Amino acid sequence: MSGALIPGIERILFTEEQIDARIREVAAEISQRYAGRTLTLIGVLKGSVFFLTALARHIEVPVKIDFLGISSFSNKSGSPGVVRIAKDLDESIEGEDVLLVEDIVDTGFTLRYLLQTLAGRTPNSLSVCTFLDRNSRRIVQVPVDFRCFEIPDRFVVGFGLDSNQLYRNLGYVAVMKHEKT
Ligand code: PRP
Repeated sequence: MSGALIPGIERILFTEEQIDARIREVAAEISQRYAGRTLTLIGVLKGSVFFLTALARHIEVPVKIDFLGISSFSNKSGSPGVVRIAKDLDESIEGEDVLLVEDIVDTGFTLRYLLQTLAGRTPNSLSVCTFLDRNSRRIVQVPVDFRCFEIPDRFVVGFGLDSNQLYRNLGYVAVMKHEKT
C-alpha cells in the first residue's frame, strides 16, 4: 500500500523519496555520533516500527534492537500524561549506548516518562531520535537529539502513524482533512 492514495487526505506532507533521503541523512549523523560503538535502538510500539527499521538499515555501526509497549491515559482528574509500560524490554540496557526511537513527539509526556524510566536502568548513554516532531504541541520540555521532520499542528498518518490503527503502512506521510488528535 506504500504509494496508494487513501480517502480523506488533504495533502501529502512528505513523499516516500523525501522520507528516504532524510532518513539516510539522519542515519549518517547517528553513525558519526556513535562511531566505534555498538548502539541499542529501542522502538516504542507501535508507531515507530516503520521508522526504526528504515533507520537501522542505514546506520553503519553495529545495532541491537528492542521494543517497549506503552499505554497512555488521563488520570482521575482528567489530566493527560499518565504513561505506563505495557510491554517491557527483553534485554537489560545497563552500560549500553541507547537511542530511543519514536515516530512522533507531541506533548512530550511519553518521552519524559520513558527517559526517566530508562535512565534509571543506568545505560552508558541515552539519546532520542524521532521521525516527526510536532513541537507546537509540546507541554513538557524533553531533549530530542535527532529528528527527521518538524511538522505543523495537524493530524497526520502514514509511515507508522495511524488513524484508528489504519494507514500505518503508507509509504508517505499525509495530512488528513478531518482532524482527530
Ligand atoms: C504516539 C507516539 C508517542 C506518543 C507521543 O504514540 O508514538 O509514543 O504518541 O505523544 P506525546 O508526546 O503527546 O506523549 P501513540 O499513543 O499514538 O501509539 P502508537 O505508536 O501505537 O500509535
